[in-house]
Amino acid sequence: MARSIDIMKDRQEAIEAGCDVLGQGFPIAIPTETVYGLAADATNPAAIAHIYETKGRPRFNPLICHMADLAMAEDHAEFDPVSRALAEAFWPGPLTIVVPLKPQSTIHSLATAGLDTVGIRVPVGFAGELIHAFGRPLAAPSANTSGKISATSAEHVEADLGDKIRLILDAGASAVGVESTIVKIENGRVRLLRPGGLPASEIEHVAKQKLLRSRRASAAIEAPGMLASHYAPGAAVRLDATRVEENEALVAFGSAAITGAANARIVLNLSRSGDLAEAAANLFDYMKKADATGAATIAFTTIPDDGLGEAINDRLRRAAAPRE
Ligand code: TXA
Ligand code: MG
Repeated sequence: MARSIDIMKDRQEAIEAGCDVLGQGFPIAIPTETVYGLAADATNPAAIAHIYETKGRPRFNPLICHMADLAMAEDHAEFDPVSRALAEAFWPGPLTIVVPLKPQSTIHSLATAGLDTVGIRVPVGFAGELIHAFGRPLAAPSANTSGKISATSAEHVEADLGDKIRLILDAGASAVGVESTIVKIENGRVRLLRPGGLPASEIEHVAKQKLLRSRRASAAIEAPGMLASHYAPGAAVRLDATRVEENEALVAFGSAAITGAANARIVLNLSRSGDLAEAAANLFDYMKKADATGAATIAFTTIPDDGLGEAINDRLRRAAAPRE
């Protein structure tokens, strides 16, 4: 079992213990507003290698580098006017911006998978304080075994990775519940690389333009978060369900009655009132709960595609995709 520190009870102890293990070159689990991260010193190749090893990632992929603030980010990367405007509007928050690395950046190429760009975000709250105290960027993918559902609580992390890591910093359930939105600015145009916890419409409002959405088939940036079968529970996943079949768990959205719900292995509702933020926050936890019933299939009812629904539906489509 990993040592766990409740940051609400002992914030200072959590920061000191966190900096200590990070400084020794090992990853720790940290709470962020999106999901829990498996964080390591982004300037230390051995520490980054431990992230891949702990997650069982099959190959090296670019990791998001987390910064204390925009000033720290500018030590490592070049911000064009649009990237800067987005950073100023949304950081700290669930937005990752892919920007060109500066030649003097100390971020190791193992964190960027050798690309000349880096995905950067400034997380809300405790994680930002921890990075400020540590003084260096933290590379952090979600704190789960590769291909599995992302962790949105310290209990999820403990159950999955507890015997592989030294420290879990516990701040309760992640408020947003899905990973950050990732964008990249190309000649002043904003491209959406991954829908996430910041709705696309909010980015369009600040950038004063429609987002480019077509994915480019660049192998260099193909990464687990983009693989079709990522976020897979043990059970099969069925989308747009209007009734519950034999041996299914039901994860509903909204207040409509669903035929056969009485026979479901479990009935969970992401948001009875139809609130997409509430649904995003519950998504991964309910996937795990439904999976834990041993149901053959998890049936999800339809979730609208606007706002945070885009990120929720992206994760659900990947969970429902044929497994590799
Ligand atoms: O919410 C989040 O973003 C969570 C929490 C822990 O902060 N982190 C997360 O990190 O999801 P990670 O490392 O799993 O995200 C990796 C994704 C890759 O799938 C890739 O799509 C994108 O970030 N990425 C990172 N660097 C990139 C780059 N230089 N160019 C293009 N995409 C990049
Ligand atoms: Mg992940």
